[in-house]
Amino acid sequence: MGAPLALSLVLIVCAQYAAAFFRMTCGRPVTVMRADPIVNPGAVSNHVHQVLGGNAFDFTQTYDSLRASSCSSCAARQDLSVYWTPNLWYHAKNGSFHPVNQITATVYYLQRYGSNGERLRAFPKGFRMLAGDMTLRSFDQDDPAQKAVTFNCLDAGNTGAAGQYNRLPTHNCPSGMRTQIFFPSCWDGQSLDSPNHKTHVAYPSGVDSGTCPSTHPIRLISIFYEIVYDTGSWNDMWWDGGSSDIGQPFILSMGDPVGYGFHGDFINGWDVDLLQKVVDECTADSGVIEECGPLASDLRSVDEMNDCAFPGRVPEPVTGWLPELPGCNPVQPGPTAAVINTTCGAPQSTDFVPRASVSFIADTNVSQWESLGCAHEPKDGRILTQLWTGANATAMGVDKCVQHCKDSRWRYAGLENGNECWCGTSLSSPATQLIGPYTCDTPCAGGGSIANGTLPENCGAQGKLAIYKDIGAPAPTLGKPRCRLRRKPNLFEQLMMNQRVLAMPTSPARRR
Ligand SMILES: *[C@@H]1O[C@H](CO)[C@@H](O)[C@H](O)[C@H]1NC(C)=O
Ligand SMILES: *[C@@H]1O[C@H](CO)[C@@H](O)[C@H](O)[C@H]1NC(C)=O
Ligand SMILES: *[C@@H]1O[C@H](CO)[C@@H](O)[C@H](O)[C@H]1NC(C)=O
Ligand SMILES: *[C@@H]1O[C@H](CO)[C@@H](O)[C@H](O)[C@H]1NC(C)=O
Ligand SMILES: *[C@@H]1O[C@H](CO)[C@@H](O)[C@H](O)[C@H]1NC(C)=O
Repeated sequence: MGAPLALSLVLIVCAQYAAAFFRMTCGRPVTVMRADPIVNPGAVSNHVHQVLGGNAFDFTQTYDSLRASSCSSCAARQDLSVYWTPNLWYHAKNGSFHPVNQITATVYYLQRYGSNGERLRAFPKGFRMLAGDMTLRSFDQDDPAQKAVTFNCLDAGNTGAAGQYNRLPTHNCPSGMRTQIFFPSCWDGQSLDSPNHKTHVAYPSGVDSGTCPSTHPIRLISIFYEIVYDTGSWNDMWWDGGSSDIGQPFILSMGDPVGYGFHGDFINGWDVDLLQKVVDECTADSGVIEECGPLASDLRSVDEMNDCAFPGRVPEPVTGWLPELPGCNPVQPGPTAAVINTTCGAPQSTDFVPRASVSFIADTNVSQWESLGCAHEPKDGRILTQLWTGANATAMGVDKCVQHCKDSRWRYAGLENGNECWCGTSLSSPATQLIGPYTCDTPCAGGGSIANGTLPENCGAQGKLAIYKDIGAPAPTLGKPRCRLRRKPNLFEQLMMNQRVLAMPTSPARRR
C-alpha cells in the first residue's frame, strides 16, 4: 500500500517559488485505441492508449504529419501536440472489464527553472519523449521516474477519502481518481528522441523542480498530465480486485492493477516559435490560460475540443463489457515486472484499418441514400422534425431508420442518441451550417457491433444527429421529365439538389 503524500507535487513547488504556469484543458480523447507511434511506430501497440490532442495522431507520426491535424481535443489552437496515457478500466468479479469514463483532462505547462538562471526552451520540432515504464509493478522511491507518477483521490464532499498515492488508491474515490504524470524537463540539447525514448531527457534534482544534471543541461518547459476518471460511479461494485495486494477494482490497460506501470507519451506539435513566446511571456502564476497573452485570443471552445475525435482503427472493441483487456494483457499485479505477451490472438503488427475507412457515421444499405455527416441539434428546435414514434427503440439501426423515412416518402433521415429516428423534408437552416466532422458516436441500440469489423454502428449521439439524405430524389420540377442519377452525383450536382447543404460528407468507405 502506498502512503498518501502530504501534498501534490505541484502544490509543494508552487509554495516554494511563485512559478508561472498555465493549465491547458482538453476535451474527450481524440481517439482510444492500441496505438503508440513512439514505442511501436507503424504497428499496433500492446495496450490501449487514450490520446489527447491533434487528430492527425497515427501509428506513425512526424512533426509535419502532426501539424497537418485539422483539429485538436486540447484548448490552444496553435498546439497540435499529442499526449497519451493508458486508459483506466473497471475489473468486475466475474472477470469482465469495462472502461472508466474520463471526467476531465488537463495538460499543465510549467515554467520551472533551476538555480543557474538558464533560459527555458520550447520543445523543438520533432521532439518526443516517454515517461514511466509499462512493465513496472513495484515502487522504488529512489527512482525519479517513479516519483513522477501519482494518483490523486478526489473527494468533493470531504468524506475523508482524499489523498495522493504512488499506486492506485485502495479505497473508492467518490469525486474521481486523477492519474498524474510529470515529464522530464532536462534535455541533452541534441537528440529529438533516443532508443528507449527516455535517455535524451532527464529529471531535474527535485523531479518536478530543481537543477538539471550536467549530462542534460538544457531546461525545457515542464509538462504534467492530469486525467480524472469517474471512479465514483463504480462505488456500488467495489471489491478488492481479487487479492488484498491489489486491494481495489480498477486496472490500467496494460493489465496493471497497482498503477506502478502508468506512463505517458508526448510528441511536440506546437508552432515552436509561438511556444517559445509563451514560455518567455506567460508569467502569470494563476494557471489560467486566458492570462497567457499569446494563447488567450485563440482558444478552442469545449464543443470544438469534444468534436475533434475519430474512431479507433484496430479491429477490436475498446468499449462496453469485454472478457479481457484489448491486446494480450492479463492481470499482472507484480511485484515482478510484467511480461509482454503478443501471442494471444489479438490483432498485432499492422492489422489496423486505413484511416479513410473509419467513420463515426455508418453507411446505409438503402439504395440512393447517403450519409451527410453529423450535426449538433440547434438550441431551439430540431434539424428534422418527424419522430418515428412507432419505432422499436431497442432495435434501432441506421438501415431501419433510413428505410422507414424512405418508405414514408421523406427526403432526410436522422439518428440520434442511439435509438431515435427522425425524418423530414428538409434540414432546418441552422443545421445546414453545422454539418461537419462532429462525433456521432453512440452505438445503435439494435446495431450491436459489426461482428467482424467490431467497429460499432453508431446512431448519432446525445444532441447530435447523424443525417442521411435521399440523393436520388429529384429536385421539385414543373413539367419536366423526372430523372434519377444512376451514378453518385458530383459535388456540383449535389449542391444543385440541395443548395442548403454546404458541407459534403467525407465519404466513409462503404461497409456493405
Ligand atoms: C460481469 O459483471 C458485470 C457487472 O456485474 C456485468 O455487467 C456483466 O454483464 C458481466 N459479464 C458477464 C460475461 O457475465
Ligand atoms: C501468452 O499468452 C498465451 C494465451 O494466453 C499463452 O498461451 C502463452 O503461454 C503466453 N506466453 C507467455 C510467454 O506467457
Ligand atoms: C424490440 O426489439 C428487440 C430487439 O430486437 C426485441 O427483443 C423485442 O422483442 C422488440 N419489441 C417489440 C415490441 O417488437
Ligand atoms: C440492409 O441491412 C438491414 C440490416 O441492417 C437488413 O435487414 C436488410 O435486409 C438490408 N437490405 C438490403 C437491401 O441489403
Ligand atoms: C467473422 O465473419 C465470418 C464470416 O461471416 C465468421 O465465420 C466469423 O466467425 C466471424 N468472426 C467473428 C469474430 O465474429
